[in-house]
Amino acid sequence: MQFPDNFLWGVALSSYQTEGDNKNSDWWLWEEENQKQPSGAACRHYELFEEDFSLAQSLGFSTLRLSFEWSRIEPEEGKFDFSEIKHYHNVIQALRNRKLKPVVTLHHFTNPIWFSRRGGWLDKKAPFYFSRYVKIIVSEFARDVHLWVTFNEPYVYLYNSYISGVWPPQEKSLFLAKKIDNNIVRAHLSAYRIIKEIYREKKLVGPQVSIAKNIRGFIATDRNPYYRIKAKTKDYLFNFMLLERLIRLKALDFIGLNYYTCEFLPKPSLALPKSSLGWFIYPKGLLDLLCRFSQYNLPIFILENGIATNNDTQREEFVVSHIEAVAQAIKAGTNIIGYLYWSLIDNFEWDKGFRPRFGLIEVDYKTYERKIRPSARTYSKICQSNQI
Ligand code: BGC
Repeated sequence: MQFPDNFLWGVALSSYQTEGDNKNSDWWLWEEENQKQPSGAACRHYELFEEDFSLAQSLGFSTLRLSFEWSRIEPEEGKFDFSEIKHYHNVIQALRNRKLKPVVTLHHFTNPIWFSRRGGWLDKKAPFYFSRYVKIIVSEFARDVHLWVTFNEPYVYLYNSYISGVWPPQEKSLFLAKKIDNNIVRAHLSAYRIIKEIYREKKLVGPQVSIAKNIRGFIATDRNPYYRIKAKTKDYLFNFMLLERLIRLKALDFIGLNYYTCEFLPKPSLALPKSSLGWFIYPKGLLDLLCRFSQYNLPIFILENGIATNNDTQREEFVVSHIEAVAQAIKAGTNIIGYLYWSLIDNFEWDKGFRPRFGLIEVDYKTYERKIRPSARTYSKICQSNQI
């Protein structure tokens, strides 16, 4: 199938997982005491970004999603480090020089240490602090960036940090999670309005703003109503509730989705294909969800889809089968504007360290050498021919 003209093909990554030495971040502090394999120099992407972008360009991608590290830009409350802002100008310029369209995420799980000491996303003033940072950044980059993601996966963040407690600040409280949810919605709404206002003032073409929502298939494999109701409830709470709230608030220009896996209820007795992290591989889940999201009449942008595996043939099959699912959804009438693979390079997978390999490009963590994997070539052919 031929994809629509101007379909955005590319890759995603995030600052903390690749740059290295993000010492002013709450994750850095937490890792010092809790992480067996701390992020340290990560992929040294902070120094090697030109090389990484040249590889992305050589693979024929048109789009690259990355994040700016708030803790670098505002290492102390209210004090902005303009040398770090200059660094991100160089990053954006390096993308533009290679004809890679930037998609910029403003918050990808990590917070400045000063912010977390004030209570992080529980603090009443959190939306104010975030908005102040957004205003500075978007004013700086409005001319060069037109696609903004305010928050990456708010529910993954609040689940891991405030419900299961495996990420900093390791809380386990539904009450706190609800507070975080409200504060993040308030912060998104405020950021959305600020971004729009900046482009209006500068008389620039309006930007497209969204969040990256992690979605997951919830599949009842038993006729027992208990499992069916459980799957339906989880599907609504996890996949739809937040997006519907933001759509009602008229604070999304497109629907940004991250899809990796599905959950079977109950767990299947048969051995189904899984990634090295034990996540089920289920492209049909993506197809079904995409078709259901078309009801909101907003363009859909797949901001992340990928697999952790040490078997690159498995990665190749994953990419092809998921892009086939995207093609089928488009055929069925869903308006999808782009697809980004997670990730361009292997990187730091949070509490799991460096073992999971998500990259189209392998990183040697001793020499920091990059090596293009065969799956990247297959994906590159799809992007360049704009068809599958
Ligand atoms: C996150 C990434 C993460 C990836 C794989 C997404 O949930 O945005 O930061 O590395 O999934 O787990």
